[in-house]
Amino acid sequence: MPNRAIIIGTGSALPSRLLTNRDLEAMVETSDEWIKTRTGIEQRYIVGEGETNSFLATRAAKNALEMAGVRPQELDLIIVGTLTPDTPMPSVACLVQKELGAKKAGAFDLSATCSGFIYGLSIADKFIRDNRKMKILVIGSEVLSRRVNWTDRTTCVLFGDGAGAAVVTGTKEDRGILSTHLHADGALGDLLTIKGLGTAHPVTMEMLELGWQYIQMQGREVFKHAVKALESVAWEALNANGWTTDQVDLLIAHQANMRILDFLREKLGLTTDKVFINIHKYGNTSAASIPIALDEANRSRLLLPGSKLLMVAFGGGFTWGSLAMRW
Ligand code: ACO
Repeated sequence: MPNRAIIIGTGSALPSRLLTNRDLEAMVETSDEWIKTRTGIEQRYIVGEGETNSFLATRAAKNALEMAGVRPQELDLIIVGTLTPDTPMPSVACLVQKELGAKKAGAFDLSATCSGFIYGLSIADKFIRDNRKMKILVIGSEVLSRRVNWTDRTTCVLFGDGAGAAVVTGTKEDRGILSTHLHADGALGDLLTIKGLGTAHPVTMEMLELGWQYIQMQGREVFKHAVKALESVAWEALNANGWTTDQVDLLIAHQANMRILDFLREKLGLTTDKVFINIHKYGNTSAASIPIALDEANRSRLLLPGSKLLMVAFGGGFTWGSLAMRW
């Protein structure tokens, strides 16, 4: 039996400030009804005083390590999927490494937006196929509330902050990660951007007035591409493993919009109990959405030994990907 990557611990963390749709009604011209009908979101959590991306990522990591029974000093690698790091340098992964005291671990951030956790797991999978003794911490962590224009109702109602983590190691048993498929289409990047704050556009009054420090999105176009890409990458994973949709025990898809999730469920012919949903509680937390969902599904015992799990993600870039595993 070849080496297979398995997840032996999951964790998640949310910031302290709860922001409900009703709260947003007082901030922009919107309504609880509009947000719920168009997105399924009822509330989200955002960072308060002293809470940062690395703070959330470290908390999620500690929870995952505790479940796994792994000490930070045993970690070989820390990968953090994020588009909202504390600072460009040092990376969130290095800040987590310091906080955990994971002295032996290499550490880097990975920029694949909402697909960051799937991209991160696929890298961990490749390392572990070579060396099953490795212990790798994969995190998805975001503070999108700092990149949202709180006066733009077309985006500010959608996003939330949070972090999720998984401890990955190897086995010779017939379980674990079976396939990963990664995709991107940079030609469509302009549909979902944060144009400023990188090196292309230094901070100037003009840049700030254009609002390029914020997420800008052509929602309808993103929606159309998201549903198409998610469906096709889900079929790609199913076909690669010879799975039929009714063999899938749980689908964890990026929690971007309830209508996207409904569409995907219908296209794949899955029943509602097989599609994990928590978007109503957290909104779209980008790279954190899948690992938070994974942790909740794991802790509520929706994942049992042998369960067939399919994860699919889509996000800015565009990037998308899938991962199939036997739990
Ligand atoms: N409250 C009230 N009205 C609003 C709001 C709001 N928060 N936002 C937009 N509207 C208005 C618009 O101004 C428009 O009014 P008009 O008809 O008078 O011009 C009307 O509602 C319809 O707007 P649309 O943008 O056409 O609404 P749509 O049904 O497309 O829903 C949404 C918008 C929810 C953003 C949807 O397009 C979407 O979910 N897209 C996917 C984007 C996404 O999830 N991106 C996240 C990052 S990528 C990812 O994670 C997949």
